[in-house]
Amino acid sequence: MGLLSKIFSNTRKPEGFWGRMMVAGMNGGSHAAMASWGLDLAGVPADGEILDIGCGGGANLARLMDRSLRAKVTGVDYSTVSVEKSRKVNADAIGKGRCTVLEASVSSLPFKDGTFVMATALETVYFWPDIVKSFAEVRRVLVPGGKFLIVNEDDGLSGNNDKWEKMIEGMHTYTPDELNAHLTAAGFKDITVHRDGSKHWLCVTAVKPSRTN
Ligand SMILES: C[S@@+](CC[C@H](N)C(=O)[O-])C[C@H]1O[C@@H](n2cnc3c(N)ncnc32)[C@H](O)[C@@H]1O
Repeated sequence: MGLLSKIFSNTRKPEGFWGRMMVAGMNGGSHAAMASWGLDLAGVPADGEILDIGCGGGANLARLMDRSLRAKVTGVDYSTVSVEKSRKVNADAIGKGRCTVLEASVSSLPFKDGTFVMATALETVYFWPDIVKSFAEVRRVLVPGGKFLIVNEDDGLSGNNDKWEKMIEGMHTYTPDELNAHLTAAGFKDITVHRDGSKHWLCVTAVKPSRTN
């Protein structure tokens, strides 16, 4: 594995020195503008419980709290480095009982069925295992009518996806059509796709139906 590949594999699971550098970088740069774009398009509920999956450095937990008057926000990430950074960045809100950060994988979310009014996944679904099963696990923890938001910096149509997929093992940059098909297979409905064509940003929202089989 080349040095660049070694460094960028920390976007998939931050670990050690380069992982700590990566989560610090994730909290600023291009992620900030894109996260705000996606969160504003989706809208954030004023109250209830919100889950941010693959929360990285925790900046989006803070953005969710900024956009919601009363919601309680939970972040999960399977990287210890990400969990530590998210807890540090949101220490005040954690102290006030408004935010919680847990180490967990999307494959097995440590929550009861129907816990969250909204789940967000920013710059992370590229790395999720068995994508339909992962999406079904997100659906399980949403309330009926709850919203799932996916925001990706690359819409799979930029021509750069090959470069990133070769550099980061296990990464897949989904196209809007692929996400639509996988979300439908996982039982979501009302799937809406927004793209910022010039930047190739992608924002997809989907709803857990009120009645599921
Ligand atoms: C590129 S970072 C994005 C972080 C943050 N959401 C943001 O937009 O800045 C991807 C994050 O997703 C996490 N992640 C990847 N696969 C995951 C999985 N299966 N379960 C939980 N977290 C995961 C990684 O550990 C990493 O912190």
